[in-house]
Amino acid sequence: MTHAHITTWVLALVLFFVALSLHKSGKAKGAKIVQMILRLFYLLIIATGALLLHSIASISIEYVLKSLIGIWVIGSLEMVLVRTAKGKETKIAWIQLVISLVIVLYLGLKLPLGLYLFQ
Ligand code: HEM
Repeated sequence: MTHAHITTWVLALVLFFVALSLHKSGKAKGAKIVQMILRLFYLLIIATGALLLHSIASISIEYVLKSLIGIWVIGSLEMVLVRTAKGKETKIAWIQLVISLVIVLYLGLKLPLGLYLFQ
């Protein structure tokens, strides 16, 4: 399940940059379609994350944090895209995205399932 989880969020990041570049090159319709597919991937990320949580015998605060910050990443991705589409300031959304992504990768890789990079 960790592989499915990793696959879904890696693909979501790829779709995010595709949607962003379509927006920037003025292809609003294409960007909208990619963004709809990306939203489906948000659900897949949450579903695979929830299945991972389900496989854990006792959920510690670190898992709760990991999951909440995972949702924060999704919120930030959406905020960057929506604000870009509306031509609004995206700096704060980007800062949130970078911070939440760094924390979620650290916590995800530190927690015991799957890959185990940080002790
Ligand atoms: C874009 C958002 C997300 C990213 C980038 C992300 C990233 C990661 C990474 C890197 C891992 C470690 C995988 C491994 O050890 O092989 C992981 C594991 C996990 N994720 Fe996420 N995740 C995200 C969203 C979520 C959400 C929304 C939830 C909860 C609903 C969640 C729950 C979990 C759980 C329970 C684990 C297992 C932790 C462990 O290794 O013991 N994740 N995630």
